[in-house]
Amino acid sequence: MNTPKHIAIIMDGNGRWAQERGLKRIKGHEKGAQVVREITTFCANHPEVETLTLYAFSTENWKRPKMEVEFLMKLLDEWLKKELETYQKENVKFEVIGDISKFSPKLQQRINYTKEVTKNNTRLTQVLALNYGGRDEIVRACRRAKKAKVELNEESFNQFLDAPIGDVDMLIRTGGEKRISNFLLWRIAYAELFFTNTYWPDFTPKELESLIEEFKGRNRRFGGI
Ligand code: IPE
Ligand code: IPE
Ligand code: MG
Repeated sequence: MNTPKHIAIIMDGNGRWAQERGLKRIKGHEKGAQVVREITTFCANHPEVETLTLYAFSTENWKRPKMEVEFLMKLLDEWLKKELETYQKENVKFEVIGDISKFSPKLQQRINYTKEVTKNNTRLTQVLALNYGGRDEIVRACRRAKKAKVELNEESFNQFLDAPIGDVDMLIRTGGEKRISNFLLWRIAYAELFFTNTYWPDFTPKELESLIEEFKGRNRRFGGI
């Protein structure tokens, strides 16, 4: 049976969730942040899940209104400050992919501090994709590889990506859209894809559990027969 070692999620639908309730889009992001905690705790307590990678801010999300971008930055900073307790309690290691050099020095400091403090935790690695683009990561990896002058192949290329988090087993997108939106291009080569209409703020550990069940029944051939 398939093991869902690495689950990646495109957490989409926060804005629509809020708008359908007559609320401002940012209220959807606030509720979405609570869901991140619930899903992380579920995965930390799941016997098979080792890595949970969450798309939190894409290289394209800078196109949003300044106010929404600023809100997301503030939310992330406050959330990391508050969540340190959860990371420690649930034994979760925090990791980041994406180009965080575009963030404020204060936010970069918070991200690096959270990584440092949680680096020896072992039950789950939670990876946040921050200012992340799949193409951007591949280009930056190529630059690092060029400097290192090692012989390049699919195996050795992995070490130049943003973090050693390995291939994705399950890729889930909430919010109803059926696209990848520049997420994890290299690592999803053989991921099983799942699309749900549930908006991220309504996503639950129970729904994740049923997607994991579906995943276990899929026939992964990796090109074989
Ligand atoms: C995803 O929800 C969260 C981020 C991209 C930060 P959206 O904000 O894209 O929500 P919709 O797609 O507009 O509903
Ligand atoms: C993808 O959602 C990015 C994140 C969830 C962080 P978007 O809402 O930005 O994607 P598009 O614009 O619908 O493709
Ligand atoms: Mg969206």
